[in-house]
Amino acid sequence: MIILALESSCDETACALVEDGKKVLASCIASQANLHAEFGGVVPEIASRLHVEAVLPVIDKCLRISKLKIQDIDGIAATVGPGLIGALLVGLSAARALALAWNKPFYPVHHMAGHIASNYLEDDSLPSTSSAHSSLPSLTASPLTPKCEPPFICLLASGGHSQIVYVKDYLDFEVLGSSRDDAAGECFDKVARALNLPYPGGPSIDKLAQTGNETAYKFPLISFKDDHLAYSFSGLKTAALSYINQKKMEAKQKHTPWEISFSLPDFAASFQAAVIQNLFIPIEIAMEKKKCKRLAVAGGVSANSYLRKYVKERFSEAEHEIYFPSLKYCTDNAAMIAAMAYYQASASLLENISFIAQPNISLEQFYIRKK
Ligand code: KG4
Ligand code: ZN
Repeated sequence: MIILALESSCDETACALVEDGKKVLASCIASQANLHAEFGGVVPEIASRLHVEAVLPVIDKCLRISKLKIQDIDGIAATVGPGLIGALLVGLSAARALALAWNKPFYPVHHMAGHIASNYLEDDSLPSTSSAHSSLPSLTASPLTPKCEPPFICLLASGGHSQIVYVKDYLDFEVLGSSRDDAAGECFDKVARALNLPYPGGPSIDKLAQTGNETAYKFPLISFKDDHLAYSFSGLKTAALSYINQKKMEAKQKHTPWEISFSLPDFAASFQAAVIQNLFIPIEIAMEKKKCKRLAVAGGVSANSYLRKYVKERFSEAEHEIYFPSLKYCTDNAAMIAAMAYYQASASLLENISFIAQPNISLEQFYIRKK
């Protein structure tokens, strides 16, 4: 079964064609990151307009790369939420129009379920047509993994979400824990901005941290007595921002550049280590709770080089099965949306051309969980 999917929930306009939920036949991403960079974050109105400009060219490019004909495609999918409403509407409207014009079934997909499904994609050697990842440090995508299969615990860490999800089956999700405030990716982005690093901040901090000492600065490790599976990143973010602001003020009084008043690589490395360590405090508790030794990591932050090293050191291969998406499918892409749609189509679930964009919908609400 071949699915054409569109993703436009934030600042990437993406199209992909994926066979049987795993084989990527084509994946194209038009990234807007450079255009939002001067504002230090995504400007929703600009994002919507840029999606409108990019959506038809990415579909066209994908069809050309795959050499597929319309009759080869079995279904159309699009991200319907969560995300920016204007941005979501562009991909969703285009996908629904294609489904109507080509007489194909349409599958609405939850963005975070798509991130989880990035772990089902084959680790192919297709060159990425995106410019979005050019600032990532050169890491080899892990060739290690056979395809991940449920049940597993998934750590979802993106710009908008930090969650621990028990993926009992392809369409059965139980959210075990979530952030009570900021997401891990957001925390990277805000601190990077204060350090005057380019947007998006995660890859910039990752790069800067390569030469830093992760033990140079102490950051808090946060856990809640009333919920061992909840996250909080706002304290960590505030600690980092307060330190940077203090250094900026001191430097201003001394008329010296603040950038030389402390070691930026050491600061980046220590901050990055703290974010990642905080992400993993509850993971072992969740794995124990569900008696599950299989762990997958997904979302933009799963591209982080320290995270990948840390996981391999912390979870022994003898006792655990660990999965990462290949690097090009960590951040937003449409191949993951097509992969998720394949499981919806296979189960005849959520085929609905009238589905409207749902900017805040939760995973459990979307795939109404069988208790
Ligand atoms: O999943 P994603 O592409 O978009 C959302 O659904 O939010 O995640 C984007 C987030 C951004 O906050 C970005 O800074 C972060 O993922 N990110 C990283 C890395 N690459 C992307 N964070 C840390 N290290 C990275 N290498
Ligand atoms: Zn995402």
